[in-house]
Amino acid sequence: MRVLELFSGLGGWRCALGDRGRVLAAYDVSETANATYALNHDFEPRAKELATLPAQDLADLGADTWLLSPPCQPFCRMGNHRGLSDLRSRAFRHLMDLLPQAPPDRLVVENVTGFLGSDAHALLTERLRTLGMHQLDLQACPSRFGRPNLRPRVFIVASRKPLKPLPVPDLQPGPLAGFLDAEEDARLYLLPEVLARRHHGLDLVEPGDRRSTCFIGGYGRLFVGSGPFLKTDRGVRRFSPSEVARLLGLPAGFRFPESLSLEARYRLLGNGLSIPVAAWALDHL
Ligand SMILES: C[S@@+](CC[C@H](N)C(=O)[O-])C[C@H]1O[C@@H](n2cnc3c(N)ncnc32)[C@H](O)[C@@H]1O
Repeated sequence: MRVLELFSGLGGWRCALGDRGRVLAAYDVSETANATYALNHDFEPRAKELATLPAQDLADLGADTWLLSPPCQPFCRMGNHRGLSDLRSRAFRHLMDLLPQAPPDRLVVENVTGFLGSDAHALLTERLRTLGMHQLDLQACPSRFGRPNLRPRVFIVASRKPLKPLPVPDLQPGPLAGFLDAEEDARLYLLPEVLARRHHGLDLVEPGDRRSTCFIGGYGRLFVGSGPFLKTDRGVRRFSPSEVARLLGLPAGFRFPESLSLEARYRLLGNGLSIPVAAWALDHL
């Protein structure tokens, strides 16, 4: 596969791709995402606004596969559900306009489950049908792939060739303990006065647990509904960015630019892909 990685973030699609193909170009408007991508993959994404990308730029690359994770906020359970009319969907709408001009042989769109049945889903389906491509709408969660973390996502997989759904694995998640850092960062612990104010409704898990809720981009500053907090003998703490990265299945040694704040690291991870789940979606192609 000769791949175009659109909304590339940390490079989750690149990690999932492995030796199935080669990324010809990655696009993301975020400087912090691009710096992290470049550090880990030795490859510079293009810092371009996708809502105004000229059709010729895509056509010139000669890619045969598009892998894209457009912003999910317009389709999120906790979002505004504005779908295509949300400004953050502009780039997706533009790419749907470009699709017939430089149609790839294969495409995968990843998003939150609220994408299914949305106007964006309907637009994509209509474009794929017009191009005569086959389409599968898949749903999966890393909790079925041996990861003790919930992150349900949809993958719209399309190809010129007929597609057949693969079974979703059913691997028992290991305990969270297997994903923790060897040495804890004491700064991740909540101060007693913060815990006293915030403990209500907090998703508390212990190292032996085999389940935890989804990390969202605001995990570094929010409490209830932002992700799990770990209860240990020492108190209650956030998971470290490297622990979140491990739960997502990013490669060992995945790192961030030194200068990147803790909040920014969580924001990038909260946008990220579960690598084993994305790899399973690619297995359909
Ligand atoms: C859901 S995240 C994708 C995460 C990615 N798949 C990963 O593995 O980290 C969406 C990304 O799209 C980028 N983005 C959002 N709107 C964009 C636009 N209009 N043009 C280019 N990039 C955009 C954001 O900066 C963010 O990194």
